[in-house]
Amino acid sequence: MLIDLGDLQIRSWRKADLAALVRHANNPKIAANLRDQFPHPYSRRDGIEYLSFVRDQRPERNFALQYDNEAIGGLGFQLGIDISRVTAEMGYWVSESFWGRGFASRAARALSEWAFDEYKLTRVFALVFSHNLASVRVLEKAGFQCEGLMRRSAIKNGVVLDQLLYAKLI
Ligand SMILES: CC(C)(COP(=O)(O)OP(=O)(O)OC[C@H]1O[C@@H](n2cnc3c(N)ncnc32)[C@H](O)[C@@H]1OP(=O)(O)O)[C@@H](O)C(=O)NCCC(=O)NCCS
Repeated sequence: MLIDLGDLQIRSWRKADLAALVRHANNPKIAANLRDQFPHPYSRRDGIEYLSFVRDQRPERNFALQYDNEAIGGLGFQLGIDISRVTAEMGYWVSESFWGRGFASRAARALSEWAFDEYKLTRVFALVFSHNLASVRVLEKAGFQCEGLMRRSAIKNGVVLDQLLYAKLI
């Protein structure tokens, strides 16, 4: 898979991404805003297991964000099942070294648009901790609309949190 955005690419993960993946993912500020399945510290063993997992997925659901020939982040989907099979949840992260350059917004817009046709969806949604203002901004810039506040719907690092529900439709 390849979505070419000029200076940025969204593409399939490769085994050769291991060192870059571990270097960029091993950051508590990133893990703090993601699900617990994204570990911290992020070890070489975590990277090996993740790359093996995503490379076996069919359909492919997790992708690397590439800049200057290096994987500097990731984006992916959880596909809905049964009556929710026309929906998918999208998640993403970008290495702190590249924050504030518009990369996540551009990638989230392009990948969400790609997903509608690829997975035959009517809706792509994202859940974001209500304090994660950078990610809220990413979703707004990527064409998502806020549908509501899911109060006390998550627990992260022992703290119960509210999540905002954002969605994009076709
Ligand atoms: C959220 C994240 C993906 C943003 O990546 P990014 O490439 O820096 O995002 P962009 O540059 O496209 O956009 C960030 C926007 O948030 C804004 N922003 C950043 N920090 C902010 C803050 N504390 N308050 C308000 N806005 C903020 C930026 O100004 C920018 O908006 P602008 O273009 O209107 O100025 C990145 O910070 C990250 O990986 N965080 C950890 C993981 C995570 O939160 N993932 C999303 C889970 S829902």
